[in-house]
Amino acid sequence: MSTALFKPLRVRSLELRNRIVISPMMQHAAPGGFVNNWHLVHLGKFALGGAGLIFTESTAVSPMGRIGRDDAGLWRDEHVQPWRNVVDFVHQNGAAIGVQLGHAGRKAGSKPLWEGGDALTTTQMLADDPNWVRLGPSAIPAGEGWSTPKAMTLEEISQVVDEFSRAAGRADQAGFDVVELHFGHGYLVTSFLSPLSNQRTDAYGGDLEGRMKLAIDIAARVRAAWPSHKPLWCRLSVVDGAVGGWSADDTVVLVRRLQAIGVDVIDCSSGGLTEQTKALPVPRGLGFQVPFARKVRAETGVLTQAVGMIVDPHQADEIIRSGAADLVAIGREALFDPYWPLHAQWALAPDPQFADWHVRHGVWLQKRQTFLDSL
Ligand SMILES: Cc1cc2nc3c(=O)[nH]c(=O)nc-3n(C[C@H](O)[C@H](O)[C@H](O)COP(=O)(O)O)c2cc1C
Repeated sequence: MSTALFKPLRVRSLELRNRIVISPMMQHAAPGGFVNNWHLVHLGKFALGGAGLIFTESTAVSPMGRIGRDDAGLWRDEHVQPWRNVVDFVHQNGAAIGVQLGHAGRKAGSKPLWEGGDALTTTQMLADDPNWVRLGPSAIPAGEGWSTPKAMTLEEISQVVDEFSRAAGRADQAGFDVVELHFGHGYLVTSFLSPLSNQRTDAYGGDLEGRMKLAIDIAARVRAAWPSHKPLWCRLSVVDGAVGGWSADDTVVLVRRLQAIGVDVIDCSSGGLTEQTKALPVPRGLGFQVPFARKVRAETGVLTQAVGMIVDPHQADEIIRSGAADLVAIGREALFDPYWPLHAQWALAPDPQFADWHVRHGVWLQKRQTFLDSL
């Protein structure tokens, strides 16, 4: 049986073995921004599990832009080699690997979810790093419990654009195949896009064009710093999910601009502007964000990646087959079952040779299956 899910995909010079992507997932495990054995095992197991493309967690372009204290980083040259170890292992096991570059903006400084996920106090942030402050387009806090961010000067904006560009250069040195720009979930760039959080009156605010300027500036500078044969992904919150906020039609306008710059894939997420999104949440359900990927793909022709409660192999295959998206990303499902891609293949088109499993395992699985079949 031919499956859409396991059809390889070429984007620029990158050939993905299938359409299954591991979604970016924060680990809060990289003191000083340095990845370590945790990341090698956490990300490496997804390569053994058969994914086509594995994304790192949101990786900070500066200490200021960290979501939590122990975010992975690419703000120092010394961060490159530890990443290289992870990248090499993933490559040796047949998967591609992308780094998600992010800046948390006014949502910088939060606790891991297992500690409640609350915003750190200003005292806690300054104790971690005397320069750690929340930055935003305007002096509007992300929500209750969050301090008021500093409205960024033009110089600070230009510095952040430089930081993204330098981090992309380091990502190339580390051997990453893909950069994904994290322009979703209420972090810095989303807060510039949304009229609810951006009330600037200069070139980076006001009408749609002004609010999109930071996204476009960063994408253009990263595209220039990132080799032209390597593809560029961008994660967007297609809607804020709040009354009067960023809309799916605004996303379509932005995506056309990003395409012209050379962004190849739009990873379609939603929400995250914090308190304001509670006004009109995007209803949760299986594949609840797939319609966003379908709309963006249909109206712009860009390649899309669908994400959010994609849990079943047949559901995932149908998303690709129906033309809603070119790739599916799984997050929590991959935590539940790091071998989800190989298990999905077994469910859709079983291979008695276990040829896509690691050779050290496949031969034993053949014997196991022969035994089970004989019962
Ligand atoms: C542990 C965890 C950490 C996450 N960290 C990030 C992140 O760093 N960047 C991001 O864009 N999304 C992050 N997300 C969101 C996921 O990438 C994904 O979009 C979301 O979980 C929905 O997909 P799922 O239903 O398959 O889990 C995280 C999700 C989880 C469960």
